Amino acid sequence: MINIGLLGFGTVGSAVFTVLAERKAEMEACLKQKIRIKRILERDMAKHKSSEAFPLMTTEVADIIADPEIDVLIELTGDVKNMIEPLRRSISAGKHLITANKALLSKYLEELTELASKHEVAFRYEAAVAGAVPILILMKNISALNEVLEIEGVLNGTCNYLLSRMEAGLDYDTALAEAQALGFSEADPSSDVEGYDTMYKLRILSSLAFKQPVLESDISCTGITGVTKAEIEQALSQGQRIKLVAKATRDEKGEITATVKPTAVERDQLLGSLDNGENAIILRTSNAGTLTFSGLGAGGRPTAFSVLSDLMQIYEVLS
Ligand SMILES: NC(=O)c1ccc[n+]([C@@H]2O[C@H](COP(=O)([O-])OP(=O)(O)OC[C@H]3O[C@@H](n4cnc5c(N)ncnc54)[C@H](OP(=O)(O)O)[C@@H]3O)[C@@H](O)[C@H]2O)c1
Repeated sequence: MINIGLLGFGTVGSAVFTVLAERKAEMEACLKQKIRIKRILERDMAKHKSSEAFPLMTTEVADIIADPEIDVLIELTGDVKNMIEPLRRSISAGKHLITANKALLSKYLEELTELASKHEVAFRYEAAVAGAVPILILMKNISALNEVLEIEGVLNGTCNYLLSRMEAGLDYDTALAEAQALGFSEADPSSDVEGYDTMYKLRILSSLAFKQPVLESDISCTGITGVTKAEIEQALSQGQRIKLVAKATRDEKGEITATVKPTAVERDQLLGSLDNGENAIILRTSNAGTLTFSGLGAGGRPTAFSVLSDLMQIYEVLS
């Protein structure tokens, strides 16, 4: 029996609960083990009184960490400050960890990797980069068998949406107000529009691809708040579109240059074709050539797919 402690029951946490319930028989048949979510951490349990998950809920993370039956934590709170210490304790107590928390990973990737290795537990975070797109699962092989020369990607759906609306004639502030009213953007959009969300993902991706830490301070980051209607129109008139592009290259001397910035890309090429929640990553490698990955970068079910892929991967390897 695999016993899961689920931390956070928002968009992704509740989707993990639902998709796991829907696909349980298939997953259990693959893993030859029963699976259950044993406890769920939520800050405000009252919000979930009518949910079938409610009887599993607690507001105390210690209830989950101290439960010796729980084998694996799935962290989906988005909280960095209050989560790092419980996650350290949980790894040290021998529990595997799956997280989608890119902000937490951006700060603690190397520390948690080392701690997990020391305690011989699995540590996986596929959903933290490009939602449903299965890229991290392949990265170990890609970086072992190639020199990765360049990473280029569009990794933020909110920016895609805002830039598309500006192409339709809206100015930045009007596009943002519309995105917030429709729920495509958070009330506080700064992590998306200032480029930090994309920077966290590039930090994770490039550290794995180049097999050396690429820190936030190594990445030059400019968001889309300064993009003007005139720049959008200029790009369109030349068959291009402006996208928030993440790019990292390594030269022959091993020097890494990493940027996140609004960039004009050809509209008939992959990056220029993306809209809304679509993400894409292009890897240029020494042996495999150019590899492209694309798919839905956000949303409850797409992200739950990656979280549960991590779960299957951990127990397939162990079984
Ligand atoms: N949404 C996506 O499409 C997506 C895609 C890829 C990765 N992610 C990542 O997945 C994680 C979850 O995202 P989400 O969209 O599901 O967020 P969300 O909808 O805000 O859900 C987070 C849930 O965790 C709860 N929570 C936060 N801090 C907590 C704490 N200290 N103790 C107990 N409960 C806590 C929140 O409660 P309150 O509501 O009371 O704060 C909320 O119910 C984030 O790290 C995000 O970056 C999300």
